[in-house]
Amino acid sequence: DEKHSAPNGRNGHNGHDKAAGEDARTLTTRQGHPLSDNQNLRTLGNRGPATLENYQFIEKISHFDRERIPERVVHARGAGAHGTFEAYGKVGDEDIAKYTRAKLFNTKGKETPVFVRFSTVGHGGHSPETLRDPRGFAVKFYTEDGNWDLVGNNLKVFFIRDAMKFPDLIHSQKPDPVFNRQTGERIFDFISNTPEAMHMVSFLFSPWGIPANYRQMQGSGVNTYKWVNDKGEAMLVKYHWEPMQGVKNLTQAEAEKIQAKNFNHATQDLYENIKKGNFPKWELRVQLMSDDEHPELNFDPLDDTKIWPEDQFPHLPVGMMTLNRNPENYFAEVEQVAFGTGVLVDGLDFSDDKMLQGRTFSYSDTQRYRVGPNYLQLPINAPKVRVATNQRDGQMAYHVDAAPGQNLHTNYEPSSLNGLTEAKPAGPDHMPEYNGRLMRQTLDRENNFEQAGERYRQHEDWERDDLINNMSGALAGAAEVIQTKMLELCTNCDPDWGQRLREGIAHAKEMMMKDEQAVEEAEEISHEAKPY
Ligand code: HEM
Repeated sequence: DEKHSAPNGRNGHNGHDKAAGEDARTLTTRQGHPLSDNQNLRTLGNRGPATLENYQFIEKISHFDRERIPERVVHARGAGAHGTFEAYGKVGDEDIAKYTRAKLFNTKGKETPVFVRFSTVGHGGHSPETLRDPRGFAVKFYTEDGNWDLVGNNLKVFFIRDAMKFPDLIHSQKPDPVFNRQTGERIFDFISNTPEAMHMVSFLFSPWGIPANYRQMQGSGVNTYKWVNDKGEAMLVKYHWEPMQGVKNLTQAEAEKIQAKNFNHATQDLYENIKKGNFPKWELRVQLMSDDEHPELNFDPLDDTKIWPEDQFPHLPVGMMTLNRNPENYFAEVEQVAFGTGVLVDGLDFSDDKMLQGRTFSYSDTQRYRVGPNYLQLPINAPKVRVATNQRDGQMAYHVDAAPGQNLHTNYEPSSLNGLTEAKPAGPDHMPEYNGRLMRQTLDRENNFEQAGERYRQHEDWERDDLINNMSGALAGAAEVIQTKMLELCTNCDPDWGQRLREGIAHAKEMMMKDEQAVEEAEEISHEAKPY
């Protein structure tokens, strides 16, 4: 099959002639030895015992024993695809160069290759794709200036606004450390003590918490970044992906129907649509804001629990992404790909968003552990431009990141012996001025409930009904103190939300009792098997 054959020259094949009895598809060991028996151990007689010098067998099994690397601590379950990003050469109707000198955006029609990984967050690598969870939406742009990663989610806001809280947030949503099941009680124990999470809750427990698939969902960078122009001036920027396929979400009941038959439906949907040429597309849109504290707003622009209102900060299109090629190998590409919020190109910068700064440490740190210190030498992670560093060695160093003609003895800088030299700055540095006290304090203008209440009222009726049902179900079995705190938080967002949740929890408790009876009855009529 031509389509599934490896390109010539792969694996460093040196083109030596084949031995007699061998052709291009002959099985070999990893040492290049042709393998004539892949079925039988070498044994003393055909009933064994086996010998220890079974080199091929030991190679095969011991490699198999090491086939897994640690899965991502979050976002372990994912699917990915290759594609391209095509720039519009402007931002909305304006000249984009006014705001950013990033080259990938500057010319109409400029194409940049991308790799995208979508994911769920809380559970393991083969968990159902119908679970209530944010969805990851991570894009690696292989630009002419090196890689840019935009590591986003489908929802535009997040649970917390300080990176210090991230491990606690995640622990509360992961399976219980004793009996290894996720529980509504632990999730809402954390949330009921984290009022800034209410905006996220208003989405996550509605159908927006279960996108129908990966193609029909939005994406967002969530955190605030900066754009820097050729004078070194900066604007705050937020990124959003708008799917040309539309947005589709599932109620809990719809998700359960799918999950009963298929827990891989989103991975399957993405792969099969790309395979049949139905390429999904997303438009990249940005919101821009001048780089200051904006005292006129009732929230801080660096608070990732808030949406920047679209009527004041319009979504301005900058380009279109098309996913048009499936991975050849899930592990090599989707599992080993490594995205990070620190991976920016010239013309893009960090803001002071405390979540973004915490994230930026976390990603490459975990990847040095999860994939290995040389993860950037893997083809899926390597930039598609020249790489010339003095970083050397470490586990699985695959090649030397040297420049052509570089003196290979000179793995340091500065040097007069034909080593690497620093680049000229692409433009003036963005140099914001700081004057403040070092402290541990949350942002002013917390305003935890207003946008959450707006979202509650903006939901369609069926979305609001589902939100109440899902929260009631998750809270019905929780300790009363957690129910009480959640009722208070919801009431603060909108009194109707509090009232309906109170009724919902009472109803869900009754249903729980009925369910328990039904399980007992079902156990009575279940078919017992005879031991043999
Ligand atoms: C994955 C940390 C917040 C989106 C990860 C991983 C870590 C992490 C350690 C695993 C990376 C890997 O193994 O390659 C954090 C921390 C956060 C944070 C410390 C807060 C302080 C967020 C937010 C978003 C987000 C707000 C959404 C904008 C993602 C995505 C992935 C991911 C999409 C999966 C990337 C992939 O597909 O490989 N995060 N995260 N994270 N995170 Fe975060």
